[in-house]
Amino acid sequence: MASLTVRQLDDTLKRLLRLRAARHGRSMEDEVRVILREAAEESDRAAADRSAPVATPRPATPRDGGPRILLIIGGGIAAYKSLDLIRRLQEHGARLRCILTTAALHFVTPLAVGAITGERAFTDLFDPQSEFDVGHIRLARDTDLIVVAPATADILAKMAGGHADDLATAVLLATARPILIAPAMNPRMWAAKATARNLAQLTADGIRVVGPNSGEMAERGEAGLGRMAEPHEIVAAAESILRRGAALAGKRIIVTSGPTHEPIDPVRYIANRSSGKQGHAIATAAAAAGAEVVLVSGPVNLPDPPGIVIVKVGTAQQMFDAVEAGLPADAAIFAAAVADWRSESASLSKIKKQPGRTPTLTLRENPDILSSVAHRASGRPRLVIGFAAETDDVIGNAQAKRIKKGCDWIVANDVSTDSGVMGGDMNTVHLVTASGVESWPAQAKDQVAHTLIERVAAALHGTKP
Ligand code: C5P
Repeated sequence: MASLTVRQLDDTLKRLLRLRAARHGRSMEDEVRVILREAAEESDRAAADRSAPVATPRPATPRDGGPRILLIIGGGIAAYKSLDLIRRLQEHGARLRCILTTAALHFVTPLAVGAITGERAFTDLFDPQSEFDVGHIRLARDTDLIVVAPATADILAKMAGGHADDLATAVLLATARPILIAPAMNPRMWAAKATARNLAQLTADGIRVVGPNSGEMAERGEAGLGRMAEPHEIVAAAESILRRGAALAGKRIIVTSGPTHEPIDPVRYIANRSSGKQGHAIATAAAAAGAEVVLVSGPVNLPDPPGIVIVKVGTAQQMFDAVEAGLPADAAIFAAAVADWRSESASLSKIKKQPGRTPTLTLRENPDILSSVAHRASGRPRLVIGFAAETDDVIGNAQAKRIKKGCDWIVANDVSTDSGVMGGDMNTVHLVTASGVESWPAQAKDQVAHTLIERVAAALHGTKP
């Protein structure tokens, strides 16, 4: 059988093929397949009875109740594949809404996108009609997954930097839903250090990536790594996320995060070095997995994760009350570094410094939120998870703590000063359960959060994690 690649075609044929593929919203390879299939069907028909039935393509059938996908189409030549991508997602039952960036308008039209999705395509952050219809916050919220395809180098940079100067980036910044990006760019842009930095940031932020592939680029004479993943690959990646994304749908999760501040007087307080990064990442991952999340947070210097109910507290007692008010829940994850003690009698006015006299601070134990929730006779969440920040015998202490506190799991980590865990972005943890200890490799706190949430989902669904 003869073998021929697109690359071997002469330039005129390649140009015609490229135009025809772009017109139909297919890759050049797919276009060749369609042409060959049509030719084969034509000769079959001629050979057989002319009335022989012709195979009809599978219709695109968005399902009521099918997953909602917001497709953000970036401005790259690979945008021509977006129409095919929409149809393929629809064939899998997805309901599509689309945003076109300004640059994307050079490659696809809102009219074509609107015709295929049956919904108007959104383009402008300051379009009063679109704000009236749905608004960018609803676009960010009323979806199960956001797919960015093609994700250009520019979009990646804006996402990594938290920009929100157009509709696409504003939605991406405001969403709590999972995001899948399909990068597509010139191989040199893909290999650039800035792109690598941005991508590392995005993956650390929990954003999933499909592709890019290696091969011939749409631009003449360009080949290498940077070709957008094929629509069927993007669909497969989206489906896998949606399967996971629905993992905590209908579940309510309470998460505590950050330190507590225990006042000594109106200006002084007892605190600790917790940044809240791990707890906030867990709340974000749980929301991305479809859970209803209540995040009870002590004072932190972090942005509020979008789409999550946040109860901001100061003291351990306030945190305790907020957790009690947040119950019932399917799972409670206590990542906060709660102060063990508070001043027995916080002064209402500033304690004055007096020469030769050092005030004595009498401490009183704070309520143990984890232990109290884990020991509840009624209304105990099915899964109660504590954290153990230890400096010595991390695992041994965590095992003892699991029993003492009455919780199901303990996530133990080494917080000795040289570990860099307190306030840092990385974490090395051990998951201590009734059935043993699992040590996870050093990873970003977001990744720890995702893995933990996957385990929580598996436990709540009764499947072994
Ligand atoms: O006893 P220790 O502070 O080491 O226990 C750590 C775990 O207990 C963490 O999960 C923390 O959130 C929780 N804890 C709590 N209330 C306290 C003290 C700790 O919920 N007062």
